[in-house]
Amino acid sequence: MDCLRMKVLIADDDPTIQLILKAQVSSWGYEVVIAKTGQQALAAFETIDPPKLAVLDWMMPELDGVQVCQKIKENEKQFCYVILLTSKDKDTDVAYALDSGADDYIRKPVNSRELKSRLSVGERTVTYELKLKDFGNRMESLAMARAQQLVHADRLSTVGRLAAGVVHEINNPIGYISGNAQILDMYWKILEPIVRREAENGGGPKLAAILKDVPEIVESITSGVERVSKIVKRMKQFARKEHDREPTDVNDCVRHALELCNNQLKYHVFVIKELAEGLSRAELDSQQIEQVLVNLFVNAADAMDGRKDGELTVRTFEKDGSVVITVQDNGGGISDEHMAHIWDSFYTTKSTEKGTGLGLSISQDIIEDHGGTIEVKNSVNSKNATGACFTISLPIKAAVPAV
Ligand SMILES: Nc1ncnc2c1ncn2[C@@H]1O[C@H](COP(=O)(O)OP(=O)(O)OP(=O)(O)O)[C@@H](O)[C@H]1O
Ligand SMILES: [Mg+2]
Repeated sequence: MDCLRMKVLIADDDPTIQLILKAQVSSWGYEVVIAKTGQQALAAFETIDPPKLAVLDWMMPELDGVQVCQKIKENEKQFCYVILLTSKDKDTDVAYALDSGADDYIRKPVNSRELKSRLSVGERTVTYELKLKDFGNRMESLAMARAQQLVHADRLSTVGRLAAGVVHEINNPIGYISGNAQILDMYWKILEPIVRREAENGGGPKLAAILKDVPEIVESITSGVERVSKIVKRMKQFARKEHDREPTDVNDCVRHALELCNNQLKYHVFVIKELAEGLSRAELDSQQIEQVLVNLFVNAADAMDGRKDGELTVRTFEKDGSVVITVQDNGGGISDEHMAHIWDSFYTTKSTEKGTGLGLSISQDIIEDHGGTIEVKNSVNSKNATGACFTISLPIKAAVPAV
């Protein structure tokens, strides 16, 4: 706030006093608004930029200065320092004005030097009040952010426990189904020539249908099992208790994750690494961060599938107390429609064999649990080709301790 341009309301029904006060107060660098009645004075507070200081004549038509002052003070959301102008000089009158909410008073005829000093006191008070309010607001949003982080951490640990239980329960039946599907496939390989012979020797349309259906049924059981296993694997990674976080060079995580994805990348993607040297080590669970990076690299490889000029650029650098990793591809980017959902669990645009739609939502949880952020935007690479660019920012010293 520019204190020199603080807005002062002067409310007095006497045009001569209005003129004199306006000239004086403006000459001290204040912005002045004039009101001729109590109602007009109140109207000045209905604007988007209400006055912060008010000099109110006690005796005014409609509403007197004390009543205006009471109404101004009723609004707790705005602060205005009120000085009452009065010809009354009994101590009881002064006490009444101050008890009614006025912050100060000045006797008529107004001594210009005194008014200037009293306005300065008001200005100091308003400045302190605004600073205090700002401080209060910041404290409130900090407390809210902290509360949200705690709720989030609690949710994560509940989901983690739940996932661990579900994974345990699902793993065994999946084992039988998968084992039995393999046995079925094996038996069918023995039975198939016999059934075929029978069908060709006039065994009827049923046998022909069985010949067609059985391989499809076995295939759909196998791919269903694969999909459930993939989801279980993801949930297991998520439910897994965190390893100790330790000072880690994120460049090592990037290199390791790239090695893990080598198969998906090597045929159609040219990988560019711009990894800053001498990066500060950040407090990380390296396996979790590698899990996040593997998902980003596989997503990028999928997006560039079918292109001959696929290019994946991975950069690391340090910024404002965080290490930053960017992962950029040239796979065409993410449309607005998909952009709105990609962080949702089970949202995928891939075929059921390829994607579970859990990668980004788990990644977001992991990064936020580290006190960091993960964002995405579409951008163009050095060759002017559009793609998605994910940016992960991880605090070097974790702000929120793991719960
Ligand atoms: N680099 C990218 N370019 C284009 N679209 C992307 C990119 N990364 C993610 N997406 C979109 O976001 C969706 C969600 O990604 P996410 O990693 O959460 O799940 P998924 O890759 O489909 O499955 P999985 O659980 O196996 O990772 C993807 O299906 C895809 O539509
Ligand atoms: Mg993915």
